[in-house]
Amino acid sequence: MKVASEPSARLGGRKLRRILHTEEQIRDRVDELGRAIAAAYGPDDDLLLLGLLKGSFVFMADLVRRIDRPLHVDFLVVSSYGAAQVSSGQVRLLYDPRLDLAGRSVVVVEDIVDSGATVNQIFPMLADRGPKSLDLCALLYKPGAALDRAPRWVGFEAPGDFLVGYGLDCAEDLRHLPYIASL
Ligand code: IMP
Ligand code: MG
Repeated sequence: MKVASEPSARLGGRKLRRILHTEEQIRDRVDELGRAIAAAYGPDDDLLLLGLLKGSFVFMADLVRRIDRPLHVDFLVVSSYGAAQVSSGQVRLLYDPRLDLAGRSVVVVEDIVDSGATVNQIFPMLADRGPKSLDLCALLYKPGAALDRAPRWVGFEAPGDFLVGYGLDCAEDLRHLPYIASL
């Protein structure tokens, strides 16, 4: 693993511990995930990728461009951490487009699963809307996660450390790093 040595203005004085996944590694893995998702649905499936904002926005943008079949994109805004680095366990749904999910093949796209509380609280709400299928694609999956249902697709197993970059933030900083690093 590469030691984070970027003296970049981009970091705004924050120090990274190390880079876990480079741009190239992320690109390769997202490519694999995109192909796996495309292969999982038939021609009659009405595929919807539903990203959890804000963290999933970079992953979502890359992932949908690697899925070679028709699909729609939408987002939900959920918030669980505020400015803290430890999950409050309370998930707030800040924006809900009242999407019609009935009969659709829904893939929830999440940046990182930590405790699992976010996904565990969101999934029953979505399942109530009658999708044909409901699955999770998480870019990162932390070891302590306790999900009621296993994710169908995971990009990388994550360490317990707090991670930033590629959409993941620390108090809104560092989402724009093109790699994934630990603080
Ligand atoms: P959970 O509800 O504990 O699974 O936490 C999930 C949410 O917390 C994710 O969608 C992230 O937005 C945020 N989160 C969890 N771990 C990290 C991290 O290491 N860095 C940045 N955000 C994180
Ligand atoms: Mg998130």
